[in-house]
Parts: sequence; C-alpha cells; structure tokens
Amino acid sequence: MPAERTLAILKPDCVRKNLQGEVLARIQKAGFKVLSLKTVRLTKETAGAFYAVHKGRPFYDELVNFMSSGPCVPIALEKANAVADFRTLIGATDPREAAEGTIRKLYADSKGENIVHGSDSVENGKSEVAFFFSESELV
Ligand code: RTP
Ligand code: MG
Repeated sequence: MPAERTLAILKPDCVRKNLQGEVLARIQKAGFKVLSLKTVRLTKETAGAFYAVHKGRPFYDELVNFMSSGPCVPIALEKANAVADFRTLIGATDPREAAEGTIRKLYADSKGENIVHGSDSVENGKSEVAFFFSESELV
C-alpha cells in the first residue's frame, strides 16, 4: 500500500494537560512516521478557516474559540492507510462513544474538548498537511 499523509493536531486541551509527549508516543507506536510538527497559537481567523467546512453549524463558534484558546501542535503524519488508521487510533468524536484504548477515550473530557484532530479523507489529509506545512518542511 502506498504511503499516505494525514494531519493530526494535538488540540489546546492536550497541550494544557501536558500530554503532548504521551499522545505522540501512542501515535508513533501505532506506526505513524512524523514528517514534521510544531507548536502554534491559532488566531480565530486561522482556526475558523481550518474548520470552514463546519461554518454555520451550532458548534462552530465554540470550536473556533476552543481551537484558538491556547497553543496546539499540528503534526504531519505518513503511513500506509494513514487517514483511516489514524481515525481508528483516535476514536469517535465524543469520547463517551469512543472505543476502549483509543486516544480520545483515554484522554478526552468532552465532545468539544477531545484532545486531537484527524483528517477525515485522503484529499483532506493532503490539503490539511499543506495548510500548516510547506513541502520543504516535510522531511
Ligand atoms: P476533528 O475534525 O477535530 O478531527 O473531529 P471529528 O472529525 O471527529 O468531528 P467533526 O464532526 O469534524 O467536528 C469537529 C470538531 O467540532 C467539535 N464538535 N462539537 N458539540 C458538538 O456537538 C460538536 N460536534 C463537533 C469537536 O471538537 C469536533 O472534534
Ligand atoms: Mg473532522
């Protein structure tokens, strides 16, 4: 299977809880290669642009406020079947519905503050990696 890219973001709750290392270790143990990562503080505008697909949904303002509430860590990942395998690793959006052993089940407090983002399609994986990283940073 060819290598595929997906974008993870360790969300502001993950950083506030000092769980970046622990969550990244689980990602790496699951076989994902880290191409690049950085810590950034998103503005409301940038967070809103990243989640533009959800504009108009009832949770959009809360999502934008949360994602810009503190530093977060975008991570470009590569692996065969990366997009689907990463969604399996993180679990359902609402941690109460997430499978045992998934990152959201283990660490997340709520549907709104759920520790980690994962791209939801191969196309979005490519475009979301490009949203945060230039090609020369992906090594
Ligand atoms: P993500 O994009 O962050 O990986 O999450 P996801 O695919 O599992 O869920 P999505 O439907 O894309 O929603 C994006 C984020 O919006 C927040 N949300 N809150 N309160 C709510 O009903 C609600 N629904 C979604 C979550 O933080 C979710 O991760
Ligand atoms: Mg999503």
